[in-house]
Amino acid sequence: MATQTTASSQLAVHGGTPCVVDRPADYLIGPQEIGQEEIDAVTAVLKQKNLFRFFRDEATSPTAQFEKLFGELSGAKYVLAVNSGTSALIAAMVGLGVSSGDEVIVPAYTYIATAAAVLTLKAIPIIAEVDESLTLDPKDVEKKITSKTRLIIPVHMRGTPCRMDEIMAVAKRHKVRVLEDCAQANGGQYKGKALGTIGDAGAFSLQHFKIITAGEGGAVVTNTPEVFQRAACYHDSAYAFWKSTEWQIEPFLGENYRMSELNGALALAQLRKRERILSRLRELKKRLWSQVENLPGVRFQDVPDKAGDCGLSLVFFVESPERAKAFAAALRAEGMAAGSMFDQGFPDRHIYYHWDYIMQKRTPDLHGYPWNLTDVKYTPDMCPQTIHLLSRAVAVSLTQVMSDAHIDSCAVALKKVAAGL
Ligand SMILES: Cc1ncc(COP(=O)(O)O)c(C=O)c1O
Repeated sequence: MATQTTASSQLAVHGGTPCVVDRPADYLIGPQEIGQEEIDAVTAVLKQKNLFRFFRDEATSPTAQFEKLFGELSGAKYVLAVNSGTSALIAAMVGLGVSSGDEVIVPAYTYIATAAAVLTLKAIPIIAEVDESLTLDPKDVEKKITSKTRLIIPVHMRGTPCRMDEIMAVAKRHKVRVLEDCAQANGGQYKGKALGTIGDAGAFSLQHFKIITAGEGGAVVTNTPEVFQRAACYHDSAYAFWKSTEWQIEPFLGENYRMSELNGALALAQLRKRERILSRLRELKKRLWSQVENLPGVRFQDVPDKAGDCGLSLVFFVESPERAKAFAAALRAEGMAAGSMFDQGFPDRHIYYHWDYIMQKRTPDLHGYPWNLTDVKYTPDMCPQTIHLLSRAVAVSLTQVMSDAHIDSCAVALKKVAAGL
């Protein structure tokens, strides 16, 4: 609902008039784009009564077409559509050779699925700090590398590209591989390269809350044929029978991570909209940031590549956790979608502190795997830098449907709160 812009400096949280105008009805990204294209694409698949991708030729399979377009847009040689971001991570890790007992470095700030995917392969997540980019801190990664480290997973959280140059340099020095978790950064770039194509492989999610969505879905990208074949094999126990591939590996068992043609049709229709969505998000973020860059008492997130950032949110740090909570509440009262980022009382599964089954080393395996392979210790205070940063951070969410007038009124609200709180 629209509210009126006001010259009043009294904060809405203190009874003043909210100053944000033209609020969007919804803050999701991909789902708001569902229109006739998606309806037509899914309907066409239903009318054809063929939902199985390997019973079609590649020219007519929407899933195969999705893979083709994803490869063209990202520059990745190989793309594998799968049924979730989690299965993309697992298949990619199989592709990269992650095996039981291996250590895999993950950031302290990522969705729990990143670490859970590591555990499904009976490998051990090693949790490293994030820095002021709120993505993996390359210095802490280097400290956490041991002789057992097989892989580093930088996660481009909230569409912010990680410090890939530094991370790749650490990986090269220690001869470990890199899998980019791009679940939240579909279409993002770093120094002109598509996220997912800088490391040895990339994993994407097409789940409901993502930049584009297929309902559920995901994708693995890589430029290495062996990594692709291992991932493809693992995503379908009969892959070697469906596809006549020039095998560089001996086919092995897999799970069922296949994408259905219904999801493929949705994924393809949404992928065609991705560049438009991202260019609007980037425009909005730039418009907001340029109006508030000198906000007193505030330090902005250090975005490693502003041009490649997806523009999903504007994040800044204030002096204390109490002020972050009060700041976010005051912005919400003005009519903005804003939140503080860490709260001990709220179980946000994006922060290691709240990864309860990992912190407590629980496992469904009755023989105790993989915890019986390691003496790793997890404690709530093991990543103090991450907690320090997240507890002082405030995030303002953006969506592509916001108007310029809305953004301008958000800038007014930010200045009002910074001055009046
Ligand atoms: C950073 C990150 N990694 C992995 C995933 C897992 O994706 P999915 O839910 O599609 O399995 C998600 C999102 O859900 C995510 O945000």
